[in-house]
Amino acid sequence: MYYKQLDDFPKNFLWGAASAAYQIEGGFDADGKGPSIWDVYAHQPGNTFKGTTGDVAIDHYHHMAEDVALMAKMGLKAYRFSVAWSRVIPDGDGAVNEAGLDFYRRLIKALKQNDIEPVLTLYHWDLPQALQDKYNGWESRQVIPAFEKYCRTLFEAFKDDVKYWVTFNEQNVFTGMGYRWGNHPPKVQDTKRMFAANHIINLANATAINLFHQLVPDGMIGPSFGYGPVYPLTGAPEDVLAAVNADDFNNNWWLDVYCRGEYPYFERKALTRAELMPEVTAADDALLKSAKPDFLGINYYHGGTVQQNRLEKPVKAGDAKEFSATDPYLMQPKAEQAQSPEVPMFNAVSNPYLAKTAWGWEIDPVGFRVGLRQVYEKYRLPLFVTENGLGALDELKDGEIDDSYRIDYLQDHLKTMKEAITDGVDMIGYCAWSFTDLLSWLNGYKKRYGFVYVDRDDDGPKDLKRIPKKSFYWYRDIIKQNGAQI
Ligand code: NOJ
Repeated sequence: MYYKQLDDFPKNFLWGAASAAYQIEGGFDADGKGPSIWDVYAHQPGNTFKGTTGDVAIDHYHHMAEDVALMAKMGLKAYRFSVAWSRVIPDGDGAVNEAGLDFYRRLIKALKQNDIEPVLTLYHWDLPQALQDKYNGWESRQVIPAFEKYCRTLFEAFKDDVKYWVTFNEQNVFTGMGYRWGNHPPKVQDTKRMFAANHIINLANATAINLFHQLVPDGMIGPSFGYGPVYPLTGAPEDVLAAVNADDFNNNWWLDVYCRGEYPYFERKALTRAELMPEVTAADDALLKSAKPDFLGINYYHGGTVQQNRLEKPVKAGDAKEFSATDPYLMQPKAEQAQSPEVPMFNAVSNPYLAKTAWGWEIDPVGFRVGLRQVYEKYRLPLFVTENGLGALDELKDGEIDDSYRIDYLQDHLKTMKEAITDGVDMIGYCAWSFTDLLSWLNGYKKRYGFVYVDRDDDGPKDLKRIPKKSFYWYRDIIKQNGAQI
């Protein structure tokens, strides 16, 4: 193979940035909003880092106009945000709260006025608490019609103004953390229940996609998946086999369902033998087959490296303290299951070739190209990078933030993404995570990702002043020149 890099990014490439409702909005009970599972979970002592919550977050709910003005100043072409379900339907499946819907109406209007394409995520982890209480959340099929109603409300309200929609954000992460490791709500540690809830979410995803295609035929919808390519630690055939299995557990288990409407064959067999396979009816199969996303959202932070699981280190639920997207460890069989010859075995290990962030996440821009290529080769759907970014301890010095390390990180990833486009990947756009600093679920407010610094800390909101970082100006220039500098 020979390589000659493309001169330019595609015309109309969507240069964007992303966020999520619970991580930025605050206003947790404003204007009739109902509680979500995150509101409740974060308030229970011991669940989050230093007890941090999203009660105020960066108060985007009351700073929306200022935040959009900053996006316009940056020249952003797209902004990805999520809607808080319980702001729009406070009890999950009852009456619509017009004041809540109106917040998103105003946000979308402000974006459009500034030529910023809204990218709307329907579900970024904040299930209405009422649905958890009433139906046991995603473990019950009764949540599917509630989700359908919520989606219908948004599709009907915004179909003329929003072209790009994301169904579920990182289904792999929130099911793993919520139902296996038990460090996200609803705090369950039960693999069988995880697979069962995950199946119901797949049905909800397919239901939403089908409804969307009826109601918004000109729009595009797809899930955002926390993706990472899997490498074998060595060339030993056992490690290569471990990587094949880990790829099934970490990636194909979701992507095959989204894109092909079926679970991957070998893993389905393995889970059936281990009695972990959820019940899949013929009607479920038909529903999953009927719904095709229009694009795949890819959230990329890092891949994973595995070796044959020799069970030197048993894995316990409490081991997964650090929240990490796309970590194969997340889906590793528990030690007691791994001892059974019925379950594929692998151990996640550190990759000796890669540097790490302050939170121990591997930095792997080449893996970005590898992953984009692999996914596109397999599924041939347009890809939309809906998240990629660096969590760091940024410092405010003399009123400025020099986050040159973030610029390096993003620059390296944009370069390999451009290489993937050169290779032939059809790419709609790229949303850096995140536009402003925000709450990092279990890591509080010190782990910062934004182009815009927000003056608040784990201990309190301070004055919430917004200060563009050095990376803000760098990204503004990238956008202005459509990536010609990359
Ligand atoms: C993925 C999630 O979608 C987002 O909510 C999170 O903050 C980032 N990764 C960084 O951890």
